[in-house]
Amino acid sequence: MSTPSSFKTALPGILICCVAAFGGFLFGFDTGTISGNMAMQSWINQFGTAGSDGVITVASSINSLVGSIMAVGEFVGALLGSPVADSIGRRYGTISACLVLAVGVAIQAGAPVLGVFILGRIVGGVGIGLVSAMVPMYQSECAPKWIRGTVVTGYQWFITIGILIANIVNNATKDRADDSAFRIPIGIQIVWASVMALGMFCLPESPRYYVKKNNLEEARKSLARLNAADANSAELDSELADIVTQYEAEVALGEASYTDCFKKNDRKVYLRTMTGILIQAFQQLTGVNLFFTYGTVFFQNAGFTDPFTISMVTSGVNCAATLPSFYLIERFGRRNLLIYGAAAMFIFQFIAAVVSVAVGADNLTAQTILVVFVCLYIASFAMTWGPVAWVVLNEIHPLNIRAKSVSMGTASNWFWNFIIAFVNPYIFGAEYGNIGSKILFIYGTTCFFCTIYAYFYIYETKGLSLEQIDHLYANYTALESAKADFSKTDVEASKK
Ligand code: BGC
Repeated sequence: MSTPSSFKTALPGILICCVAAFGGFLFGFDTGTISGNMAMQSWINQFGTAGSDGVITVASSINSLVGSIMAVGEFVGALLGSPVADSIGRRYGTISACLVLAVGVAIQAGAPVLGVFILGRIVGGVGIGLVSAMVPMYQSECAPKWIRGTVVTGYQWFITIGILIANIVNNATKDRADDSAFRIPIGIQIVWASVMALGMFCLPESPRYYVKKNNLEEARKSLARLNAADANSAELDSELADIVTQYEAEVALGEASYTDCFKKNDRKVYLRTMTGILIQAFQQLTGVNLFFTYGTVFFQNAGFTDPFTISMVTSGVNCAATLPSFYLIERFGRRNLLIYGAAAMFIFQFIAAVVSVAVGADNLTAQTILVVFVCLYIASFAMTWGPVAWVVLNEIHPLNIRAKSVSMGTASNWFWNFIIAFVNPYIFGAEYGNIGSKILFIYGTTCFFCTIYAYFYIYETKGLSLEQIDHLYANYTALESAKADFSKTDVEASKK
């Protein structure tokens, strides 16, 4: 369908974007909440243990477990997303995922002991993992064409808004005398999950799901609602025919297996699948979640007097700096943003780390310099690797292996998210590595490797169709990709 002529015809597309975006918000809010929770005195009193001096503390190993365990649930949820969406549909699938999230959140919010809190994190994680797999699927199947491009970046932006709002809520409740200080920010997620479920309830099921179930009548009805069009219009006939043809073409190609995703053929399917998996791994290895999962604890350990405010600042920078990426991705392309973004993160982290070594982090000047360079590093991530890793993952795969390759890439993101969340407290925590801000030397170095990786392996796919992307991979290396000639696009080659 073409660009909408009125607000009424644009409304379904806008609603779909909002729902997709809300999926990102749920994910971001959870990340941001836990960071502040672990630094709250009431949380420490509830789940910590008293030392011989009577002082209650939480061991770094517990922080590690609490910070990372959710990613295990998310990993499982992300892999379950596709079978669930195929059996009960995208719509009821997402509504059920919100229910799972609400149950997980309720368990955490009411948890009397640490074991129960951890159980709640796993259950909530499964809910978020399911949402993260189903919402982008629903969106890519339903959003009218005119709005599709913006949605991946929009999803990322809402992750950052979720992190920011969570930090603001944490800051607002942190000084409450009782355990409501941490139970309110956690419990409020039930409201978000309900809003998401309600939004989904108001939207129609994906027409593609009905086509898959061979129910063309329902497919037509939902297509009409999605486009605010007459169910008997000629435009709708052709749109439905397109979906059916595309679905039949995919069925004819045969259900791709996981081994098919790693085939070393002309279209470099192996390289493309590995690119999706590795770009997500490297995105996590930039180390940015040190500041989103543990930011408040990290700044507290580093001697900052108001770590909650600093976390609001860093998450605010992350949110604001994501906005230019909508423009930058199309203007400068994926490859450039990844190369220069990683180089900038490498430089800013090294400067922050060197300053910490030279002047410590216990005086105001040194702390200000540290925060400024951390913010520059986060801004570089937000403008580049944050959104671009997701854009690349979603656009480089041939159709028949797309669902599987994208889900492996997403699972890779959760896997590395878990590994990094697990090791961080051991590296900067007082009882173990206790290296404080020098941890930035480690992530600065990984960012250096991100630059090299992007330089050698990322193809420039800005503005290309699926056929052109096939042509690009078949005939060029990553280094040549920005100068590829599409005047003789060999569509036949792309069908091999
Ligand atoms: C990453 C998350 C991260 C977020 C920060 C996302 O692209 O996948 O792990 O917390 O960006 O904005």
